[in-house]
Amino acid sequence: MAIFACFVRLAFLGASLAALFTRRGGKDRGSFAPDHCKVRASPSRTEPSPLRGTRLLRMMCPMADDRRQFCSDNEAGIHPRVMEAIAEANRGHVPSYGGDPLTAAVHDRFREIFGPETVTQLVFNGTAANVVAAAGAVDAWQAVVSARTSHIHIDECGAIERFAGCRVLVVESEDGKLDPACLEQVPEGHAEPHQSKPRLLSITQATELGTVYTLGELRALADAVHERGWLLHMDGARLANAAASLGVGLRAVTADAGVDLLSFGGTKCGLMVGEAVVYFDPSLADRLAYVHKQGLQLASKMRFLSAQFLALLEDDLWLRIASHANAMARRLHDAVHDLPGLRISRPTQASAVFARVPLDRLETLRRLARFAVWDEESGEVRWMASWDTTEEDVDDFALTLRSVLG
Ligand SMILES: Cc1ncc(COP(=O)(O)O)c(C=O)c1O
Repeated sequence: MAIFACFVRLAFLGASLAALFTRRGGKDRGSFAPDHCKVRASPSRTEPSPLRGTRLLRMMCPMADDRRQFCSDNEAGIHPRVMEAIAEANRGHVPSYGGDPLTAAVHDRFREIFGPETVTQLVFNGTAANVVAAAGAVDAWQAVVSARTSHIHIDECGAIERFAGCRVLVVESEDGKLDPACLEQVPEGHAEPHQSKPRLLSITQATELGTVYTLGELRALADAVHERGWLLHMDGARLANAAASLGVGLRAVTADAGVDLLSFGGTKCGLMVGEAVVYFDPSLADRLAYVHKQGLQLASKMRFLSAQFLALLEDDLWLRIASHANAMARRLHDAVHDLPGLRISRPTQASAVFARVPLDRLETLRRLARFAVWDEESGEVRWMASWDTTEEDVDDFALTLRSVLG
């Protein structure tokens, strides 16, 4: 049976490849114009053929088409300016492991934006940013505190517990946000040394539920955290969206609001890969370089991470990207909020719309579009806009929702 299935797959692959080189014309996405089908003679055969590569990918992987979904900003591609920056960095040999001029420039840029004491390390993904940020500041006998809805608690497979080696204690929150009163939920100072000692409060901005802390809320929380002798960490995987939503700069919403450590998101803001761990207190920075290396995050070809961040931070590209995604989420919200049976379930404050849809329509919707179902039981869904979401995408999707729910 398995051998038969294998033959069928090989036959399909063969037919697909044959079709790739012989198909003529056609209007649908999978068909190709004659010019592109010719197998050219040498020497041009040795030239890279991006078109042919793309088509091959599309034939083998039906999801790789031009449609944009509302599932996640992680699904979006790379912003063209970031792509250019990677290509521009792809020249010659430069010192490795961050000894290159682009990495020096990116450190300068972070200091310019966040203040002269800022210490930064670039990492590969958001989980790594949170782990490295925490591991550089917390000992194994201490604890990280976060909302029950936090990415570090739900979606990072215990990475902090494993790699920072400490506990993560969770507290209940409203719409993903914590306030000083929430901290009363954390048992502290009793039964020492039998219990882990809280050391770091980790909050997310914008939150996992699409909400945004105001500057006043951040300041109140930072004061409460510091009174306890803890540190405030911000998971800023979507920090750009939060800053754009508040209409403030990156420093105002972090260092100036009392944040001590930051995971600054790049991937959800148009980068191919890359996030930054940013420490605002240099006395915490001693361990960071070692944790960064030991935590598998010291890229030998660091220049390519650095080039992307330089592009993102140049001429406020981050702000344009984030403002656009937020505006697309707002457009979607406005287009669908009054559909029968649909209820907006969280305030739309950044790039995500959360809603409850009738359970008996969920399956039909899922067949028509890809999006995140947040809670199967209540029918809560998340629709997320990205840097490349267009007004047309939003209007088409709203029309789809109207046709199913209206
Ligand atoms: C709030 C938040 N933090 C961190 C991350 C980073 O995760 P990853 O390690 O998948 O890049 C994500 C990804 O979706 C996120 O939503």
